[in-house]
Amino acid sequence: MSILVTGGAGYIGSHTCVELLNAGYDIIVLDNFSNSNPESLQRVRQITNKSFKIYDVDLLEREKVEMVFEENHVEAVLHFAGLKAVGESVSIPIDYYQNNITGTLVLLEMMARHKVKKIVFSSSATVYGANASVPIIEDSPLGATNPYGSTKLIIEQLLNDVYLSDRSWGIVILRYFNPIGAHISGEIGEDPKGKPNNLMPYITQVAAGKHPRLNIYGKDYPTHDGTGVRDYIHVVDLATGHIKALEKVLSGKGIGAYNLGTGTGISVLDLVHAFEQVTGLNIQYQILDRRPGDSATCFADPKKAREELGWEAIKGIEDMCRDAWRWQSKNPNGYKKVDIVSI
Ligand code: WQD
Repeated sequence: MSILVTGGAGYIGSHTCVELLNAGYDIIVLDNFSNSNPESLQRVRQITNKSFKIYDVDLLEREKVEMVFEENHVEAVLHFAGLKAVGESVSIPIDYYQNNITGTLVLLEMMARHKVKKIVFSSSATVYGANASVPIIEDSPLGATNPYGSTKLIIEQLLNDVYLSDRSWGIVILRYFNPIGAHISGEIGEDPKGKPNNLMPYITQVAAGKHPRLNIYGKDYPTHDGTGVRDYIHVVDLATGHIKALEKVLSGKGIGAYNLGTGTGISVLDLVHAFEQVTGLNIQYQILDRRPGDSATCFADPKKAREELGWEAIKGIEDMCRDAWRWQSKNPNGYKKVDIVSI
């Protein structure tokens, strides 16, 4: 019996593959490598000394997706595959709806056809919209403020409807807050295409001398230091949250949504100072205007995941900074471009 990991070559997917393999699961990775690099999977194999099947398949390729289910005995699916850049989604919404929603529909159709009714879905705190009261609980009002967030919200609704149509499904929806950091080996990590949109990879690239300074978007928010506050969670804590979610769907049927966050809000300047403290490096920055669509403060109430999944984040902001820097300094240009056939 295998666990199918869609998007397994990505940042969170590859870290989850390491934890799955270390926990003794057999995995199959499906990825179209549109936003990831096969080398991440080569590194996963090196870290775990385990091998696994890889399918270079796009979820929109129905026949190839069906072939994966025909060729393997899939027990459950961890569904990471999807486009995930908020800003980009505003400029190419059709690509986001096609890729994220139609791709998920194809996956669910093939799962149902092959009687695979256990799935963990990679959602996002972005489904809470811009002004949710903090700490955010899972019953907070939902509302997307960009096409990327809308795709996550629609897929959550899709999964709810699937469950209502057949209550033998086991479904867990995980709402990530802000994943940062890297595996302690420094062999896998966040490898954004082009200039990073997110804060931590931008900080590590400034530290590596790839940019002269960090642009801090806004210092006039109603927060302790005026900069935006977020719930940064170590990507390995996020990965172990998926193991707990998988255990839950394997143990029975039902549906539930869970916040994966630390419950602690950290500001932009807090993160910059923590990074400087941990690495001994100085991060130059300038204050610019607020970024459109950003909220002042966003952090989770992680109580439900603790009580129902038996999971909580254990790594602190220093671990996140130390591990992020180790990945960046060992891989100044991210993953090398390797061809899928060579791994
Ligand atoms: C964090 C803070 C910025 C960059 C996004 C998505 C979310 C999820 C995680 C997918 C904010 C500030 C940032 C920079 C800055 N992705 N910032 N300078 O926007 O909270 O969440 O990524 O699921 O869906 O919305 O993360 O890292 O972009 O920003 O000052 O160069 O850092 O204003 O306060 P965000 P972020």
